[in-house]
Amino acid sequence: ETECTSTPESRFDCGRDRLLSQEECEDRGCCYAPLPGSAGPPWCFYPALYPGYNMGPLTPSEKGQTATLTRSSPSYLPKDISTLRLEVIAETASCFHVVLKDPSSQRYEVPLPAGSFQTEAYTQDVLYTIEFQHDPFGFIVRRKSNGRVLMNTTVAPLLFADQYLQLSTSLASSLVSGLGEHYTSLVLDLNWTSWTLWNRDMAPHADVNLYGSHPFYIVQEEDSLAHGVFLLNSNAIDVILQPTPALTWVSTGGILDLYIFLGPDPQSVIRQYLQVIGYPMMPPYWSLGFHLCRWGYTTTNATRMVAQRMHSANFPMDVQWNDLDYADKRRVFTFDPVRFGDLPEMVQEFHKKGMKYIIILDPGISSTSPPGTYPPFENGVKRDVFIKNATGDILIGKVWPGPTAFPDFTNPDARQWWEDCIRDFFSKVPVDGLWIDMNEPSSFVQGSVVGCPDSELEKPPYTPRVVGGQLNSGTICMSAQQQLSSHYNLHNLYGLTEAYATHSALMNIQGKRPFVLSRSSFPGIGRFSGVWTGDVRSDWEQLRFSIPAVLQFSLFGVPLVGADICGFEGNTNEELCVRWMQLGAFYPFMRNHNDKPNAPQEPFVFGQKAQAAMRSALNLRYSLLPFLYTLFHRAHTSADTVARPLFMEFPADPHCRTIDQQFLWGSSLLISPVLEQGAVELSAYLPAGTWYQLENGQPFHSNGQYVQLSAPLETINVHVREGHIIPQQEPALTTAASRENHFFLTVALSSGGWARGELFWDDGDSLRTFETQNYCYVNFTAGQSQIISDPLNLNGALASLLLGGLQVFGVPSQPLYVLANGKKVIDFTYKTDTKVLTVTRLALPMSKTFTVQWV
Ligand code: GLC
Repeated sequence: ETECTSTPESRFDCGRDRLLSQEECEDRGCCYAPLPGSAGPPWCFYPALYPGYNMGPLTPSEKGQTATLTRSSPSYLPKDISTLRLEVIAETASCFHVVLKDPSSQRYEVPLPAGSFQTEAYTQDVLYTIEFQHDPFGFIVRRKSNGRVLMNTTVAPLLFADQYLQLSTSLASSLVSGLGEHYTSLVLDLNWTSWTLWNRDMAPHADVNLYGSHPFYIVQEEDSLAHGVFLLNSNAIDVILQPTPALTWVSTGGILDLYIFLGPDPQSVIRQYLQVIGYPMMPPYWSLGFHLCRWGYTTTNATRMVAQRMHSANFPMDVQWNDLDYADKRRVFTFDPVRFGDLPEMVQEFHKKGMKYIIILDPGISSTSPPGTYPPFENGVKRDVFIKNATGDILIGKVWPGPTAFPDFTNPDARQWWEDCIRDFFSKVPVDGLWIDMNEPSSFVQGSVVGCPDSELEKPPYTPRVVGGQLNSGTICMSAQQQLSSHYNLHNLYGLTEAYATHSALMNIQGKRPFVLSRSSFPGIGRFSGVWTGDVRSDWEQLRFSIPAVLQFSLFGVPLVGADICGFEGNTNEELCVRWMQLGAFYPFMRNHNDKPNAPQEPFVFGQKAQAAMRSALNLRYSLLPFLYTLFHRAHTSADTVARPLFMEFPADPHCRTIDQQFLWGSSLLISPVLEQGAVELSAYLPAGTWYQLENGQPFHSNGQYVQLSAPLETINVHVREGHIIPQQEPALTTAASRENHFFLTVALSSGGWARGELFWDDGDSLRTFETQNYCYVNFTAGQSQIISDPLNLNGALASLLLGGLQVFGVPSQPLYVLANGKKVIDFTYKTDTKVLTVTRLALPMSKTFTVQWV
């Protein structure tokens, strides 16, 4: 007799692979109990102790412990793997690793780029315990300090067949984030939702798989603790969430390779995750400036004009972009001889003005040019770099230029060919960075121009709920062959492998810090590239959802991220575009980009009032770049987040758990943008403590509460947290210019009168400056009515730079005088209402220690 009494909420689906009749369900030994409606709990579900694998004794292995799992009877899936090897590896005190694979035949495993593991010493103070249930096999992970169950996989059977792997677990709380890339709030909906991970060219909207796949989630526990789980698997995956709360992974291939990170705080969880997938790259300084792009700058002159108008109207901007318009017949590595005939000259002009230039680079290589006219394809064929179809011919899909072949970036020869193509183009057009798009990879025909063969790769026994219903929809055939494996296994890695190849190529060619921006992503891409969130629509809802989208990439180790400001698809409007520029000024990556048919949305096309608002948002960002750059340094060296969810900084504050309409820069700036049409005020949450308005130093002493903030069109609310010092610099039209300007400090004193901050400074684009000690670092400390700098000069980067002034928030009373390095200063003001001390016209060398006292 099967036990079928579980409550509907705690049912685990016995028919995820296909819809079952009652008879088919019961043939599986499962319970059948229909419910009203088709959404919600499954009708066919596992009874308790449903047979699965039986676990043999645990024995020591090379890296941990191992056991053999066996099935006595087959499951309901084709090609069961009835014997598995379990390995449990204690990587560190806070991270362990569970691997389940077929001991008798090698299955596909994700080739994590070598050298990315950075293990700390294993100590006895492990944060976890793991307990096994032997029959049916399952394991329970507890947090040692409080006994909390973080995972319990005995809630449903483990399934492991050739193309269907399933593992369920209970969740420690309902506060789950991650599992991107999706259009969602930061905390995921657990009400019988499923999250498909399959890289897809798809304009962001709810309930669909988007450009990237990140099989990682973080759970906020009670008491400010958190843990995370990473399934290292690149096959098509569905993750099913249900309200008990619980989660089920279903993957269509590979192995089950799980990492569990015990934190215990949220930021440590992310750091431990990044110890596995790699810390993010250090971006060049200029890439933190403003980027302007659109599809439809159809000539060099049109492109020049735009950049010209930006600077004539005094808008800071570092980088001008061109979309496909530049290319001859949309073929990459060429430029149109008529419309873009003087492209090399244009790039030189930009460089003379201290600006940078970036172009789009799609992976699809046109295959139908007349013989002898398009070397990238012909050389690629000779060097055998393209993905093959099942019968060994070059697979041809269709992208912007028409029929195209796709480089196989898992093949080292292809990476070398790619580098050669970039080098050749670069020798004519010295671009500063590359924008790698369409790299899911996207194709406008299903599979290939001749379709795909009938096979279990194209039509697996189970297809996750991908857009289009089939894995090969919008991309190339699953049976396509790459050097490392089938495209079925490697699809989700296409963008990552291209980003790696492009990053290495640029590094070799330019000898400088590469800038790459990718649409498609997978864990580890932050080491090579930034990401933008694809073809967002110009509307208020998309503006709002861009915040959780950016914050998710922070969790995924991709700090350099942003959405297309003012929206890509559809016409924007002035108010929306102003608000979007204001929010976008706080995206770590700031680019305004527009689709071809739409009304223009460069800042200078709008009315004077809108322009003024955008100009001040840009100036604000540029003034904060030294701080932002220092945050990127922290991300690169310590895996800190740049754009940071509130829960990460204030894990003990229950109000912060789900906030995703505000966010932080590091731990000290709180950004509260307007996200609604017509709004001129907003309700914002201020965690407990004193927060000062960056604009004027107005303090607010919060008990951890929502406050009403005024937000007329020309403002974005930014608060500085007490106890922090923000290094800033006078803005300019480019970072090349602003980097020479005077620094100034915003000092936000705590109630006890102290604050601290730091500045990382180098030349902004040399390789490995931190690693080779080719940088400067300044610590700032305020306390007892003075601020002291403590510079570490490892090179001359700060040599000619001066501190021009500072503003101190929270100075209790009017100082009688101000001393800079012991000498009286004349230029200072004090505002009794806001308690702000402003000191101007200083000229203190940044490379020397300085003291400013107020007495
Ligand atoms: C894709 C990109 C978009 C780009 C367009 C043309 O839609 O997402 O940003 O403008 O292709 O290259």
